[in-house]
Amino acid sequence: MRAASPLHKFRLTYKPKLAGVLSSGIENIAVSELGATTAVKDAEDIRSLFPNIYGKPVIEFKKQEGAGEHARKNVGVILSGGQAPGGHNVIAGLYDALKQANSENELYGFLGGPSGITDGDYIKITDEIMNRYRNTGGFDIIGSGRTKLESEEQFRQVYNTCENLNINAIVIVGGDDSNTNAAMLAEWLYEKNTGIQVIGCPKTIDGDLKNDQIEASFGFDTATKTYAELVGNIQRDANSAKKYYHFIKLMGRSATHVALEVALQTQPNVTFISEEVAQKQQSLDSIVSYLTDVVVKRAEKGKNFGVVLVPEGLIEFIPEMKNMISSLNDILAIVEDDADYMNAQTVEEKYDIIERKMQTVDASVFHGLPHMIKDQLLADRDPHGNVQVSKIETEKLLIEMVRERLNVLKAECKYKGKFSDQAHFFGYEGRCAMPSNFDADYCYSLGYNAFALIQSELTGYMSCVKNLTKPASEWIAGGVPLTMMMNMEKRHGKFKPVIQKALVDLNGPAFKVLEEKREKWALEDCYVFPGAVQYFGPPEVCDVTTLTLQLEQCGCVGCTC
Ligand code: FBP
Repeated sequence: MRAASPLHKFRLTYKPKLAGVLSSGIENIAVSELGATTAVKDAEDIRSLFPNIYGKPVIEFKKQEGAGEHARKNVGVILSGGQAPGGHNVIAGLYDALKQANSENELYGFLGGPSGITDGDYIKITDEIMNRYRNTGGFDIIGSGRTKLESEEQFRQVYNTCENLNINAIVIVGGDDSNTNAAMLAEWLYEKNTGIQVIGCPKTIDGDLKNDQIEASFGFDTATKTYAELVGNIQRDANSAKKYYHFIKLMGRSATHVALEVALQTQPNVTFISEEVAQKQQSLDSIVSYLTDVVVKRAEKGKNFGVVLVPEGLIEFIPEMKNMISSLNDILAIVEDDADYMNAQTVEEKYDIIERKMQTVDASVFHGLPHMIKDQLLADRDPHGNVQVSKIETEKLLIEMVRERLNVLKAECKYKGKFSDQAHFFGYEGRCAMPSNFDADYCYSLGYNAFALIQSELTGYMSCVKNLTKPASEWIAGGVPLTMMMNMEKRHGKFKPVIQKALVDLNGPAFKVLEEKREKWALEDCYVFPGAVQYFGPPEVCDVTTLTLQLEQCGCVGCTC
């Protein structure tokens, strides 16, 4: 048995707060239907691809004493994709609901992500196992993985595993890609008349699985609070020593919700928002010019230090980089057939071959990059075909380019300061943090609610808990058809149905606060030091959620409206 810290031991006994009606008990809730749905875009394509699960109503649970007898249910659960704080509590909520409904119900945890169910690799969750993981961070109770469940053969394997274990329903805990696969699996299992249900749960620290119905993906709250603590500590160090520029890359593969939330919590000197860079068509050159300008102006005020936040996905949003990466992706997809590339003796030879295959503009962008970045761009794609942006050191690229600019300005006597840098990347530090009270409660409710959806014989739904800036007793529990969030997007050169990713809304209140304040934050030092996530103490310290969600729902922060 793993040794536990005093806090860990204490957290094991924390009783998560259940969303509103769910606290009446699993036997006392019933479904209320809110009207048929369509898809977020490309409705006819989505309808024809998902004829059986498309168009179902959004549902909410209401209290109904002794709502009725429910069939015995065995359930399988899969954790899919990157870790996010609270995953263990999703399983705990699911387990408790299932056992409360009928102590003979069983929960099977598939090991190592989606491949666990295709390979039939599982554990049966027991009280003893579950009680070791309540309110803890990580996904280590059953592990996670990024295998894509999408082929007929995989769906058959899933069906065989369910048949062998007598499983009636599967809960897939994942981000937009994993929940897209959940919809495909739900449709296939329905069409084959298997009676096996599929329910998704919205997970990702990136915060980009959200829409009109899903207010937040779980893990975003804890991860951003953890990064904000670290950024705040660095700001205090910068403000004490007054000698370093800290360039901090923050996780969030595509959308910039994480960096934006951390910026709102800490007020650093510069924060780039990838979506703004794309919208304003800002080139790498203009980004470096802006940064250099801030460094020069701060030096004129005698400040040779500062903090810059760089979103992980920035590189893919800079227009010339985006085009070049898209061309590179096409080339790399077939490069294994190119004997010259495969037999190249040096990296320079590889670069040359790549550049010769590109249009001139893309080739010159690629050519101008430092070796380090070229190598990182050539690294393997993830199973969904994405560049692994966590491995691209954009923060170091910016540092080098700013340094070069400053050297030129220095030679021209236009800059007299000192530029000493520190590069950081915060990503893995936050993904398995011990969940905040918010994530502990939200995730437990999402898991419990997933079983309520199963018990209501629904399939192709995402577990949904809303009204999240209010106390948990006022949270609204229900389900959203997965197809309602889908549209058609190009993947690997073909149009595919996918759950639409939510990028930062440049007209939204969170970005507007940053936009209004950033000029002041750049030159004056308005740093905020949030400190560590708190688990015990007043609710306004321990239970409040992110500033992004507060601004989105109430238009203000710390209010009671
Ligand atoms: P999910 O979308 O699966 O939740 O993962 C998000 C993420 O944490 C990104 O922020 C990051 O780019 C990526 O995972 C890193 O992936 P890996 O864990 O494979 O290194």
